[in-house]
Amino acid sequence: MMRIAILGFGSVGRGIARAILAKNLDITVTGLADSKSGIIDAGGIDLAAALARKENGGACGNAGVSPADVVAKADYDVLVEVTPTNVEDGEPALGHIRAALRRRKHVVTSNKGPIALAYPELRALAEESGVFLKYEATVCGAIPLIHAMQEGLAGNTISRLYGVFNGTCNYILTRMAAEGLTYDQALAEARELGYAEADPTYDVEGIDAAIKLVILANTVLDMRTVLDDVERTGISLLTPDALQLAEDQDCTIRLIGEIVPEAGVLRVSPRIIEKDHPLVVEGTLNAVTVGTDLAGDLTFIGKGAGSTETASAVIGDLLYIQSRHVQGS
Ligand SMILES: NC(=O)c1ccc[n+]([C@@H]2O[C@H](COP(=O)([O-])OP(=O)(O)OC[C@H]3O[C@@H](n4cnc5c(N)ncnc54)[C@H](OP(=O)(O)O)[C@@H]3O)[C@@H](O)[C@H]2O)c1
Repeated sequence: MMRIAILGFGSVGRGIARAILAKNLDITVTGLADSKSGIIDAGGIDLAAALARKENGGACGNAGVSPADVVAKADYDVLVEVTPTNVEDGEPALGHIRAALRRRKHVVTSNKGPIALAYPELRALAEESGVFLKYEATVCGAIPLIHAMQEGLAGNTISRLYGVFNGTCNYILTRMAAEGLTYDQALAEARELGYAEADPTYDVEGIDAAIKLVILANTVLDMRTVLDDVERTGISLLTPDALQLAEDQDCTIRLIGEIVPEAGVLRVSPRIIEKDHPLVVEGTLNAVTVGTDLAGDLTFIGKGAGSTETASAVIGDLLYIQSRHVQGS
């Protein structure tokens, strides 16, 4: 049995809890925190009750227990860090991840901030402590891209990696092309459907996609990059005319993130692309093509976000750790 502590009980945290319950996984949650409360229970927290409290608008635990208390005091094998992304300094998640690794606890996170900003340091800390640091959910939600590149494609040299890394932009571009909507109309629709935040800057200016490129570059492509290394153009200035022009040539426009490791290129920009290209996916889907020497080109398509879909990636990481480390310990 694996014991975990979950920090963050929003869309992803609750998706993980629901999946543990629905699939009767051999995982016990011994610590849980949201922004204002926490619970520590070595005997196992009643997840269904915590979900009900949260879904009724309450806190998941007690106001007297902080996330830092859960990290420092709960009895767990793996810290599951699923709090909001902060790409300025990664905090408070970065401090919590460091503290868990120092306690020799494995860490699984969906939080892009700490991985994009401090991967080399965190990786070294994990190695020193003899524990795993896993972050599949930080890039392309449900698509097991990192696992595929680290395990299935081990031994290949990656010549190029490019694709659609942001579902919000993809939705906006899909709707502009299909209905002739303006950028503002398509953004308003994306907001109504919950695909875009009130402040969509991160998504539409390509920052979210750029962060994902930095994570891939630093963690699976042996590069040392920071966000400022990514050449970046967003979609907010695209006009219906530009999409129509592409349409006239049997093409469309997608926000494409691209890494060419050998040339040190990292870029995010709207690109004209033939409509029958595998990367032309509809709606909020993500799609990534990985160009390799031995395996040729592989294209991965799937849901880049969503409560259950992101939980899938987190649970994949947890079961990976369980199969290699926790059993019998
Ligand atoms: N949603 C997705 O589809 C998706 C996909 C890939 C990656 N991610 C990443 O996964 C992470 C979680 O996303 P989400 O959609 O679940 O976010 P969310 O719905 O906003 O939930 C965030 C949760 O974290 C809690 N929280 C905030 N600050 C905290 C702190 N300092 N300590 C402990 N808990 C804190 C919040 O508490 P309250 O409940 O009290 O507000 C909430 O429970 C983010 O980093 C996001 O970028 C999300």
